[in-house]
Amino acid sequence: MSAVFDVERVRKDFPVLSRELSGGRPLVYLDSGNSSQKPTQVIETMRDHFAMHYSNVGRAHHALGTESTDAYEAARDKVAAFVGAPSRDEIIFTKNASEALNLVAYSFGNRTNDDPRFTLGPGDEIVISEMEHHSNIVPWQMLVQRTGATLKWFGVTDEGRLDLADGVITERTKIVSVAHQSNVLGTVNPVAEVARRAHEVGALVLLDASQSVPHHPVDLAALGADLVAFTGHKMLGPSGIGVLWGRTELLEAMPPFLGGGEMIEAVWMDRSTYAPVPHKFEAGTPPIVEAIGLGAAVDYLNGVGMQAIEEHERALTAYALEALGEVPTLRIIGPKGLDGRGGTLSFTMEGIHPHDVGQILDDQFGVAVRVGHHCARPLHLRFGIPATTRASFYLYNTTGEIDALVKGLHHVQKVFA
Ligand SMILES: Cc1ncc(COP(=O)(O)O)c(C=O)c1O
Repeated sequence: MSAVFDVERVRKDFPVLSRELSGGRPLVYLDSGNSSQKPTQVIETMRDHFAMHYSNVGRAHHALGTESTDAYEAARDKVAAFVGAPSRDEIIFTKNASEALNLVAYSFGNRTNDDPRFTLGPGDEIVISEMEHHSNIVPWQMLVQRTGATLKWFGVTDEGRLDLADGVITERTKIVSVAHQSNVLGTVNPVAEVARRAHEVGALVLLDASQSVPHHPVDLAALGADLVAFTGHKMLGPSGIGVLWGRTELLEAMPPFLGGGEMIEAVWMDRSTYAPVPHKFEAGTPPIVEAIGLGAAVDYLNGVGMQAIEEHERALTAYALEALGEVPTLRIIGPKGLDGRGGTLSFTMEGIHPHDVGQILDDQFGVAVRVGHHCARPLHLRFGIPATTRASFYLYNTTGEIDALVKGLHHVQKVFA
């Protein structure tokens, strides 16, 4: 693909984008923050693997087993290079971001050694934020219920920024787990500052990068986090595959999550020893073709260029912020300027329920947005609203599609006026 970003060229790679919905409405897909569409290259790679190369990995000692294992492990190489992981063995394949986050939370309560970093009890503290996705809230609630530790959180300012108040991270903090980019506000959080504060007291930092890795060039080494979770289906890959990255030394010390085949070194009737990382965290048959599909997605994103994708989305976001500003009573929840935000815009319209907004946009304009609390109910409670409408952009979106959204919103406004 050329170094010059050509959105029309990109769109041709996504078969669904040329679809018409019933009544001849062209599809306007503004819901990539929920799940992204897939290019032909990913679909074909997966089809070809299922059709011609499929078998189990690791434990199948025949030609197809070798081909499958090689392709699965090559996907690990690709993902490692994509996010700048110092070692391929630091990439653990999970089912999704939720499983990656649960893996870490569970490991804390699944003590198998005396490493004080993973020993949690009454008096210890876990820090999250009010803007987290439920996947980065509920696992920690479950962990404090199991261990007696305390859950604390950073608040959110009226502008939709993390309120990094003093006193949230203390000498008792064991782990700080926050989103890199909010799935509702679009806010990109100051990870380096959070990591600096956490590391000062010896706490670990887990980053939920589900909404950042698909949209920005990410260099794990530069971020300063100790563990990072993200998910394949939001970055042009299939569903059923997620990633946890962690520093080798940390992963080696971290107790395993699930027990089962291939995560062991040796098993006796009364005890087991564990395989080296990453396999220690990949019990059972992994999502083989899904990982290979994610590898193809990474190839595709690299081909377009993450810098170009970031710039394209930034231009779309600038365009949308201005255009949405002209819709009567529309209120953006989150940063209203371009600084420190990505291409996710959530908003309310006075007196109109987001479900009505979404339905009219879908039924009459073919515009797919997400409505509801977007698995971030505490954040909506913080703003005193039950729900928002969310438009989220990706590399294949155009300003023409934003025009369609805005036209639809003006219509919604008229209907309810
Ligand atoms: C910020 C954030 N974290 C976690 C998740 C969970 O991802 P998955 O459903 O792939 O586990 C999402 C998905 O919407 C998200 O936006």
